[in-house]
Amino acid sequence: MNVNNDLHPAFGEPAIEAMNFLNEIMKRHPQAISFAPGAPNLNFLAEFNSERLINIYLEHIQNTQHRSRMEASSLLYEYGPAQGLICDLVADALRRDQGPNVCPDDILITVGAQEAIFLALRALFRTPQDHLAIVTPCYVGVRGASSLLGIEAVSIPEEADGVDLNALSDRLSEARKFGKNIRAIYLSPDYSNPAGTVMSLSKRKHLLTLAEREDFYILEDGAYGFTAAFADTLPSLKSLDQTRRVIYIGTFAKICLPGARVGFAVADQVIRDARGGKRSLAQAMASAKSMITVNTSPICQAIIGGMLIENGFSLVQLGKSKGELYRRNMACLISALDRELDSNTITWNRPLGGFFIIMDISVPANAELLEYCARSFDVLWTPMSQFYLDNSGKCQIRLSCSYLSPAQIDTGVERLSKFLHSLPNRSHSPSSGIHIGEASTIRV
Ligand SMILES: Cc1ncc(COP(=O)(O)O)c(C=O)c1O
Repeated sequence: MNVNNDLHPAFGEPAIEAMNFLNEIMKRHPQAISFAPGAPNLNFLAEFNSERLINIYLEHIQNTQHRSRMEASSLLYEYGPAQGLICDLVADALRRDQGPNVCPDDILITVGAQEAIFLALRALFRTPQDHLAIVTPCYVGVRGASSLLGIEAVSIPEEADGVDLNALSDRLSEARKFGKNIRAIYLSPDYSNPAGTVMSLSKRKHLLTLAEREDFYILEDGAYGFTAAFADTLPSLKSLDQTRRVIYIGTFAKICLPGARVGFAVADQVIRDARGGKRSLAQAMASAKSMITVNTSPICQAIIGGMLIENGFSLVQLGKSKGELYRRNMACLISALDRELDSNTITWNRPLGGFFIIMDISVPANAELLEYCARSFDVLWTPMSQFYLDNSGKCQIRLSCSYLSPAQIDTGVERLSKFLHSLPNRSHSPSSGIHIGEASTIRV
């Protein structure tokens, strides 16, 4: 029986399998140096002490809410509110960092950014005529979430300074011509995953004007904003948003630890219920959350809350030393590539922040090629095709600098260079069988 035929069509799609695929290949090649995971560096594990952080949070609750230790502790023991325990701390941090000026009612604490994306899509998309524009290449989780929800997605290309606004305008008119509606656009304006693109200030302003004029929402994913050098930091779309067009998606996975699974949404749009009552979109999304994950683990929220308190109630402070390490790793990766490879024959981008580099290679970068690279050269990367909605990115790979030490980056790039030199050049037809090295032949 072909099980996939009996399930929702999203099952079996490459986007849904992407994370498992990478985990599997890393498990099969534990000795390989992996440029694949967009995971935070384990250096920061040394300073992580969950007991201390929970204590900091509990003391804060005792002092600010005048509760006994027992009452404060019971908050972590019980289910807790679907909207979250630390909405006030997150709202405070955003205000302090000159981000959006929001109140705790407009914040929803989620099981990672992934759940925030899922809930925002569920809330906004009403009929099959509502389409989602996705700036590509994009984080694979948004594509997977939209597929699972049966939302049709359209790809919008990007330029060096962010989303191609002309292409977006064309897509808006095209959709309308066919009785469809672009309900929202998803993008990550600060060091996107995987392209490392930063959207210019003027484009941010134009996009907000366009969203208001053409009546669509913006899902702004801020996962890698903290990796920007202080002088390069641009205001988030949400902090420029005068008309509540933006739903901001945040995560503590990259800036703190992914194991806590804590993210958040800033959704200050006003929703009217059938009886004329008003609540924020964040509160409406909390109702939906109570039917999916019920609430985000209060223990994990306390750990993240403790980290925020310890860092002066500031996300900027929390991300400072981490951003520095990732910028150092990025510079190290770029200089190793410059040293080992000829940039006239192999090309890659040079972002100043984020976790990722994209490299063009001479043959299709598929699962077989990755297996060959892992087996013969002990180095791993991510095929880029999964970050697109169409057939783009076939001959591209993504290299992540976040998880490795500078020494591992150097060794990994030496191995990568040997692998790349074993590939045929572009004059070979990529669709025919290609000969790699002496012994192995793979079909690509
Ligand atoms: C751009 C982007 N958004 C969201 C996420 C998911 O974040 P979380 O682990 O909080 O669900 C990732 C993870 O890689 C990401 O790269």
